[in-house]
Amino acid sequence: MSGGPRPGPRAAAAMALVPVKRRRTAAAAGPVLPEAAEPGRFPGVVLCLVERGLGARRRALLAGRARAAGFCLHGPGSAAVTHAVAEQCSADEALAWLARRRGSTPGDRTETSTGLALLDLSWLLESLDAGRPLDIEPRHRLPVSGVTPSKEPDPAVLPAYGCQRRTPLAHHNAMLTEALETLARDAAFSGDETRSLAFTRAASALKALPRRLGSLRDLAALPGVGKHCRRVIQEVLEDGSSAEVEAVRRSERYRTMQLFTGIFGVGTRTAASWYQEGLRTLADLRATGPRLSRQQQAGLQYWEDLATPVTLAEAEAIRELVQAEAQRILPDATVTLVGGFRRGKPMGHDVDLLLSHPEEGREQALLGPLVASLEQQGLLLYQQRQPNTFGQEPSSSSMDQFERCFAIARLALPGAGDPGAWRATRVDLVVAPRSQFAFALLGWTGSRHFERELRRFAGRQRGLALSSHGLYDPQREMFLPATTEEEIFQLLGLDYVAPTERNA
Ligand code: UTP
Ligand code: MN
Repeated sequence: MSGGPRPGPRAAAAMALVPVKRRRTAAAAGPVLPEAAEPGRFPGVVLCLVERGLGARRRALLAGRARAAGFCLHGPGSAAVTHAVAEQCSADEALAWLARRRGSTPGDRTETSTGLALLDLSWLLESLDAGRPLDIEPRHRLPVSGVTPSKEPDPAVLPAYGCQRRTPLAHHNAMLTEALETLARDAAFSGDETRSLAFTRAASALKALPRRLGSLRDLAALPGVGKHCRRVIQEVLEDGSSAEVEAVRRSERYRTMQLFTGIFGVGTRTAASWYQEGLRTLADLRATGPRLSRQQQAGLQYWEDLATPVTLAEAEAIRELVQAEAQRILPDATVTLVGGFRRGKPMGHDVDLLLSHPEEGREQALLGPLVASLEQQGLLLYQQRQPNTFGQEPSSSSMDQFERCFAIARLALPGAGDPGAWRATRVDLVVAPRSQFAFALLGWTGSRHFERELRRFAGRQRGLALSSHGLYDPQREMFLPATTEEEIFQLLGLDYVAPTERNA
């Protein structure tokens, strides 16, 4: 295919009827973006980004992201457009803009007459997050007429701790949170945890906002957003991107650190020392072979599969397989899918499974035989077990001390056509005794930031020490028992937050 869509005869005819002056104004409105020629990955979906409301720079940035995600984009002149995306404008205004750009009158084309959907930017942002065009919900549609009322933030200020807020998976401020989270990662790559946390906190607060942040004034409602974050937010709100963030994303150091820390078994420090030594690619690492740990070698060997997101269906399949095997060994053993999947994520980087048994102590006889059996069946490509050290060694870090196994599983892919098809998948098996199960369930459901906030709240506000093992009261020198997550929230004096609202 070559060139962009040409105006059809009808559009060309309409163009001829437009007074010369109008035509000039339309042409002078801005440089015409080169239109995508590729058909895109999603048949039946042709996007047009309405500059009215988005601004030229933001429009170009979004267009780049949409194309990279496989969307087909056409200009306003194309009759093939199915989804027109705008921001802060009404359906009428968007139609009027489209009509002006194609030199026709707004009455030529309406949403209902042609199946053209007039959508708010939230639809595109959520679709980009999902990696596919989402079904259109009523809330995605532009309001019919009149200027979108500039919504004021809730007068109620967001509570200070992430664990006091409800944070759904799909939120309204993806552009801003992605920018802030890039800076958070970059700061963590430099070992500056405090700075990293400041960016993470600001991003997390934005995720809990019930609507898109409209202006910097709305920030008053957000707790813990410092000067630097404000500057970045302002830049993104005004220009659609932040120069600082874009520079980070382009930098060799950031890209290399992203690549290296994405390898199973490679932490920030290791990645940073490799970068320091001049290593840049996986090929560079493979050439340095002998210095890699067994875990890192496996991480590198299966890198491509492990970098491919695990789907919920794959995670469920692994959970069922592990449960069947566990129950063969211990009939009442339980296997619970935790981590991001329990928070409602459709994709994940690994499969986190929490193992237990209704009878305290019986769980100790589970992991050894389970791993041996899975290994014997050729289902494990890598495994590394750690014993339970709870109550034996003083815990040095925030890491918990459950018996566990880090593994790479060989998951058969029955639907892939080739009957022998399989993929490597990261699996964490964690074993908790019944008395600690609720705490382990809460601790392993995440998100990481939600957990951090729960622990900070417990310590600062309640003088209690929360971990995945229990809730310790130092005054009474005892662990406070709980058998459900609801009870733990109650002990902390917090409103219950459901797993799907813990995406802080
Ligand atoms: P993950 O790192 O697997 O994150 O840890 P995730 O939320 O499932 O997201 P994906 O996998 O990238 O899609 C899951 C949760 O388990 C806890 C953390 O609180 C985290 O939120 N966890 C993880 C621990 O408590 N200890 C660990 O060693 C690892
Ligand atoms: Mn996970």
